[in-house]
Amino acid sequence: MQIAVVGCGYLGAVLSAVLAEQGNSVIGLDVDDMRVSQLNSGIAPFYEPEFDSVLQQSISSGRLSFTTNAEKISDAEIVFICVGTPQSQNTNAADLSQLWAAADAIAPHLAPNAIVVGRSTVPVGTAAKLESRINKKSGRKYSIVWNPEFLREGLAIGDTRTPDRIVIGTNNDFAENKLRELYAPQLAKQIPMLVLDVPTAELVKVSANAFLATKISFINAIAEVADLTGADIVQLADAIGLDSRIGRKFLAAGVGFGGGCLPKDIRAFIASSNELGSESINRLLSEVDQINLGQRDRVVNLAREILGEVKGKKIAVLGAAFKPNSDDVRDSPALEVAHMLHRLSALVFVHDPKALINARAKFPDLNYQTDLNQVFKDCDLVLHLTEWQQYRDLDPDQLRTLVDKPFIIDGRNVLDFAAWRNAGWQITGLGKRD
Ligand code: UDX
Repeated sequence: MQIAVVGCGYLGAVLSAVLAEQGNSVIGLDVDDMRVSQLNSGIAPFYEPEFDSVLQQSISSGRLSFTTNAEKISDAEIVFICVGTPQSQNTNAADLSQLWAAADAIAPHLAPNAIVVGRSTVPVGTAAKLESRINKKSGRKYSIVWNPEFLREGLAIGDTRTPDRIVIGTNNDFAENKLRELYAPQLAKQIPMLVLDVPTAELVKVSANAFLATKISFINAIAEVADLTGADIVQLADAIGLDSRIGRKFLAAGVGFGGGCLPKDIRAFIASSNELGSESINRLLSEVDQINLGQRDRVVNLAREILGEVKGKKIAVLGAAFKPNSDDVRDSPALEVAHMLHRLSALVFVHDPKALINARAKFPDLNYQTDLNQVFKDCDLVLHLTEWQQYRDLDPDQLRTLVDKPFIIDGRNVLDFAAWRNAGWQITGLGKRD
C-alpha cells in the first residue's frame, strides 16, 4: 500500500521503517530538514536497538523515503499522523500545536479516498476537532480514524512489528477494511484487533499509560513502608505479582518513571479531565505524579543521610537515560537526581553508555565521564539510577579497589546485593536495605 507518515520523531520514524519492511511504499513527512536528510541517509536520529538496520534495509529496498514537501503525500492511501504532543510550557495540558500544523499542511494534498489515521497520544475529543479542521481546509469530507500506539522505547521495533493488540477507533467500514489490509501481517500472527468508537480509542491510550504510572507509584508507596519496617520490596513484588490479577510487570520500585510519555501523559490526562469536569482522575493521578517525583527526593535524602553533607563530595551517577537501551533523557529521574545533587554543591560525575550527548545538552554544568573506572575512582558515593545491563554486570570486587568509601545506592533495586556486600560495599536500595 502507499502510506504517508506525518511526523518522523520516535514514533513516526519507527512506524515508517517497519511498514516499509512489511512491503508497503512509505513516505515520511517532517518539518525538520536535518532530520529528513539524516533519515534519508539511513542515519537514526536517536538510539533504538535494531532501528538502524530496519531503516537502512527499507531505504535500500526503495520503499522508504523522507521529505519536507507535503505535496508528496498526495498518492497515499493511508496517512498516519505521528507528531509529538508534548507538555505545554506553562500548563500540564498537551500542546497540540504540532497536530494542528500537520493537519493544515496535509489537508490540501490528501487524495480524495485517503484515510487519515491519528496515532499521537491526545486528549479524548481531539480526533473530532482534527476531523473538522482537515475537512474545512480540504473542502472534502474525511473521517478521522484513531489508532493509538503502545510502543516502548528500547523495544520499539518489536512492539511495532508485533504489538500486544491493535486498537482502531472508527465507525467507517472502508477505513476499517483498509487498516485490516495494512495490518494483515499482524492479524496473521493472531494479534487481537479491537475496533472501537473514536473517543474510546483515544481514551484507551491515555488510560493504559495512567494505569502503568499508577502501578509504579503504587509499588513505590509500598517501598516507603518497606523502608520503615525492614520489609523487602523486591520479594514483596514477586509475591503479589504472582497473583494473575496483579502481574509482576511494572512493579519495579525505585527512582520512578520518566521519559517523554508517562509523566506528560498523566499530566495531560489530569488537565483534560479537569476541563471535562471529572475530579477523580485529578485526585488519583496528581498523587501518582507526586509520589513519582518524591522518589527523586528520596534518593537525594538517602545520599545526604549516608554522606552527612554532600557539598564537595564526589558522587558517581550511573545512568542518564530515563530507561536502559535508550538515549532519551526527557524527564529522566537519573539526570534529575544528578542535577539536584549538583545544586547542593556535590561534585557529580555522570556515566551512561548512550545518552551523554543528550544529557550534556540538557544539563551542561554536570560532569560527564565515558570511562567507568574514572567515575568510580575516589568517589564518596555511587548512585545506580538507570539499569543498563553493563551496570548489572559490574565487578564489585574490582571497583572496591578504586574507592575509600564503599557506599552505593541502587535506585533500581536490581544489583546483586549479596555480591556487592561480600565485596565490602554498603549497598542500599529503595525499599530494600543493606
Ligand atoms: C511508555 C509505555 O510503556 C508505552 O506503552 C507508551 O507507548 C509510551 O510510554 P516508555 O516511555 O518507552 O513507554 O517507557 P516504559 O518502559 O513504560 O518505562 C517508563 C518509565 O517507568 C521508565 O523511566 C522506567 O524506568 C520506569 N519504570 C518502569 C519503573 O520505574 N518501574 C517499572 O516497574 C517499570
